[in-house]
Amino acid sequence: MEFVCIADFEKKAQTVLEKKALDYYRSGAGDQYTLNRTRDAFRKLRIRPRFLRNVSKLNTATTILGCQVKWPVGIAPTAMQRMAHPDGEIANARAAGLAGSVFILSTLSTTSIEELAKGAPNTDKWFQLYVYKDRSLTESLVRRAEKANFKALVLTIDAPLFGQRRSDIRNKFGLPPHLQLGNFSEAETQDVKSSGKGSGINEYVMSQFDPELTWKDVEWLVKISKLPVIVKGVLTHEDAVLAREFGCKGIIVSNHGARQLDSVPASIEALPEIVRAVGNDLVVMMDGGIMEGNDVLKALALGAKMVFIGRAALWGLACGGQKGVEDLLAILKKDFEVAMSLSGCVDLESIRPNLIVHESHYSKL
Ligand code: LAC
Repeated sequence: MEFVCIADFEKKAQTVLEKKALDYYRSGAGDQYTLNRTRDAFRKLRIRPRFLRNVSKLNTATTILGCQVKWPVGIAPTAMQRMAHPDGEIANARAAGLAGSVFILSTLSTTSIEELAKGAPNTDKWFQLYVYKDRSLTESLVRRAEKANFKALVLTIDAPLFGQRRSDIRNKFGLPPHLQLGNFSEAETQDVKSSGKGSGINEYVMSQFDPELTWKDVEWLVKISKLPVIVKGVLTHEDAVLAREFGCKGIIVSNHGARQLDSVPASIEALPEIVRAVGNDLVVMMDGGIMEGNDVLKALALGAKMVFIGRAALWGLACGGQKGVEDLLAILKKDFEVAMSLSGCVDLESIRPNLIVHESHYSKL
């Protein structure tokens, strides 16, 4: 099978992955209303292309929080990547590095912080943090990431507990017995494997994550670490303003792959109000539903400085390990460059808000 778009990888991955892993990766929360509307949210945005602008040379490079990237598409944190391929996070991170971009390691990875640092030394790595009830455990994760030369902390703020993912409950999803949460001991991760009552991952999160988390804890994190803190999961301008107030350097507008609360907006819908509120002060980024070059263009036009792919990278990983992700990123990059050329954008600065209108603009005419 020849892959020409991310949807091709997705289709193939569906035939390669074990059902429980596939369902875990692909499912959203509840009735999946938000998940199912995400593509539509992108499609409702129209591109107003400009022509005769000499697009013979494009520049897609930029610097994000001190990391020089060849293009503004990185890999979002997704948990337990060795379920997709035995090389898991290392393969994914290497592919991101070769494509000249950033890889975000999940706290719930099947590769430890140290193994990843060793396995993908040339990739700019950020660490996604969950805050545990045990604060010394949380702090030790931060210290390990700092020591391993990770470049930023990505604090997920939308998960005091996990959303109700119906297929995981039905499947009694648990981490397969041969795998391990890389950052923790066997004993510490026993709950993730247990599949007695429902979703093992949800049981684990309920027992370990701190539902008492507030902005005070963001302040704590900013204070204890020398790394820039990015909050991930912001969907409102109110929270964006608080992120600025409490010392964060960046925001990832995200609905967590539509896996937390159903009926929230698609990230691309929430992005404009957040950019309006804090776009001049913080690095605003987004993830959620990026499948094509056009999607990247739209997110950047609406003010995101960088976007991330989560599930898509897992599909690449499932189809061919590191090479699968490399191929997928190459396709997406080419697609993005074509979108830039055909809309008259020669560099990231020229991707302006007036490139995009909502489809309702045309029904008013
Ligand atoms: C999830 C967590 C691990 O969405 O981020 O499953």
